[in-house]
Amino acid sequence: MRYLLDVFRGAPGEQPSRQVFAFETDDASATVATALTQINERTPLVDEAGNECEPIQWECSCLQRRCGACAMLIDGRPGLACDARLAECAGTTIRLDPLAKFELVRDLVVDRAPIFEGLEEAGVWLEGEVGLPTRRSSFAQEASRCLQCGCCLEVCPNFVARGPFRGASAMMAMTRLLAEAEKDERKRIAKSYRWHFYGGCGKSLACRNICPAGLDVDALASRSNAAAVWGRP
Ligand code: SF4
Ligand code: SF4
Ligand code: FES
Repeated sequence: MRYLLDVFRGAPGEQPSRQVFAFETDDASATVATALTQINERTPLVDEAGNECEPIQWECSCLQRRCGACAMLIDGRPGLACDARLAECAGTTIRLDPLAKFELVRDLVVDRAPIFEGLEEAGVWLEGEVGLPTRRSSFAQEASRCLQCGCCLEVCPNFVARGPFRGASAMMAMTRLLAEAEKDERKRIAKSYRWHFYGGCGKSLACRNICPAGLDVDALASRSNAAAVWGRP
């Protein structure tokens, strides 16, 4: 199958543009990450119009849906490049753009630091010891699968990078701690949860069904709302 990747090119202070690259494969499991990797290996790298191009800047690390680094907009929807099979895209021309909620670095790379700064600001860590596994542990385990990729933040109408509302990714980290922490520490995390998530979440559920890790944002938020707002264990 022959695909065309229509890729955003540019960096802050530059005139943005788009370039189209052809990619052929018979591998049904080939992903957007496969295509970007192989296109960047071409020498010289030439686009469909015959122009010589710089390699496409994009981020990846694990290539196994584990690190969240390759999050980008694929045909306008946030997702992971290493999880997006070309054969399952809507058509054979696939549009790639950087996530829009974060500062652009170059091409498909954005600065996702606000996600991690938000966790620090919200005090998402445990100072005390973790108790023995309890019935709350299944929530902790589920929430710990969050990649901090930012796809849920991209679709969230209330999330602004570096604002006080830290979005569903921070909720996941806090859900984990609310389930694991002992009583006194849980109080501290619950207070942070109310300020950094509960008070700012408009319950629009735009983040439902977007998570590449398959997390049930709705169910986990309900569980943590009960723990942090209504004090249910
Ligand atoms: S909840 Fe899902 S979409 Fe949001 S940051 Fe975690 S893994 Fe990504
Ligand atoms: S429910 Fe709506 S406001 Fe709340 S985190 Fe999800 S997208 Fe954002
Ligand atoms: S490279 Fe790690 S999730 Fe895609």
